[in-house]
Amino acid sequence: ALPQQVRLFEMGPRDGLQNEAGPIIATATKIEFIHRLAAAGLTHIEAASFVSPKWVPQMGDASEVMNGITRQPGVVYSTLTPNLKGLEGALAAGVEEVAVFGAASESFSQKNINCSVAESLERFEPVLERAREANVRVRGYVSCVLGCPYEGEIAPAKVAEVAKALYDMGCYEISLGDTIGTGTPLAAKRMIEAVGREVPINRLAAHFHDTYGQALVNLYAVMEEGVAVIDAATAGLGGCPYAKGASGNVATEDVLYLLQGLGIDTGIDLQAVIDTGYWITGELGRKPGSKVALAKGCKI
Ligand code: HMG
Ligand code: MG
Repeated sequence: ALPQQVRLFEMGPRDGLQNEAGPIIATATKIEFIHRLAAAGLTHIEAASFVSPKWVPQMGDASEVMNGITRQPGVVYSTLTPNLKGLEGALAAGVEEVAVFGAASESFSQKNINCSVAESLERFEPVLERAREANVRVRGYVSCVLGCPYEGEIAPAKVAEVAKALYDMGCYEISLGDTIGTGTPLAAKRMIEAVGREVPINRLAAHFHDTYGQALVNLYAVMEEGVAVIDAATAGLGGCPYAKGASGNVATEDVLYLLQGLGIDTGIDLQAVIDTGYWITGELGRKPGSKVALAKGCKI
C-alpha cells in the first residue's frame, strides 16, 4: 500500500547547485532560493555543503549561506558534512541537522570523498559522536544504490550493508541515492527489500536522479514498499561532480504533482514551487527541468 503522508526533502540549494557549470552563483541568490522554498511550504531543505571548496567550488560559501538565511520556525535547514572539519563549520553556523555521505561502491567512494567505504565509515564515527554531543541530528546517504558510474551494477546486499552501518552509527534516516539515475522499478524494489531487512522502512528515504527518466516510476515502486520520504530538487536541478553525465534530481514539482494525483498530502504549494523553479533557472539562464513546471507555466 502507498503511504498516506510523504515528507519531501528539498535538495535544490545543495545537490541542485553544487554541480552548476559556469560562474560561482552569488550567495545572495542561494539565500533567496532557500527563502522562496521555505515560503512555498518545504519543511526540509538541504541548504549547503561544508566540503572542500577545491573539490566543490559552488559550495564554498556554506558558512555565508547558513549565516545569511532567515530561518523559519518548523523548517529544517541541513548541510553536508563529510568529516569533522565540515561538522565544525556547520556547528559554527548554528545548524540543527547535518548529513554524512557514503557509497555502496568502492570506486565512487574514492572519487567522491577520497577514501574507501570502510575508511569513510571510520571517518563518520567521530562526526556522529560530536553531532550527538551538540544535539544535532545526522542523516546518512548511500550513493550508487542502483548503479555506479565506474563499477556498473551494485549488489543490493552491499547497499544494505552500508545503510545498516550508517543506521547503527546513529543516523536517524538513510537516504538511498540513485546517483546516476540508471535504476528501474523492479531493481529499486529489490534494493529497498534488501535494505529494509537491515533498517526499518520508515527510516529510509529515496534520493533518485532522473538521468534515464525513471525517477518518478521508481519512486512509485518504492512508495509501494513503504518508503515515505522523498528527496527532490526544484526545477530538477542537480548532479554530482563525481558522477559524470548524471543529470539532476527528480524535480520537486513532478513529485508533488504525482503525490497530489495519488491523494497524498504534503502541505506544499505546487504553484509556488513552480514559480521558484522558474526564478532560479532564470538566474542560471535556462528553463526548469520539470515537465510539470513547463506544462503549467510560471504565474508570477
Ligand atoms: P581530502 O583531500 O582527502 O581531505 O578530501 P584532507 O582531509 O586530506 O584535506 C585536504 C584539504 O581539504 C585540506 O586543505 C583541508 O583543510 C581541506 P589544504 O590544507 O589542502 O588547503 N578540507 C576541507 N575544507 C573545507 N571543508 C571540509 C574539508 N575537509 C578537508 N569539510 C574531502 C576529503 C571529503 C574533504 C573531499 O573529498 C571533499 O570535499 N569531497 C566533497 C565531495 C562532494 O561534495 N560531493 C558531492 C556531494 S555527494 C552527492 O552529491 C551524492 C548525494 O547527492 C547522494 C546521491 O545522489 O547519490 C549526497
Ligand atoms: Mg544526489
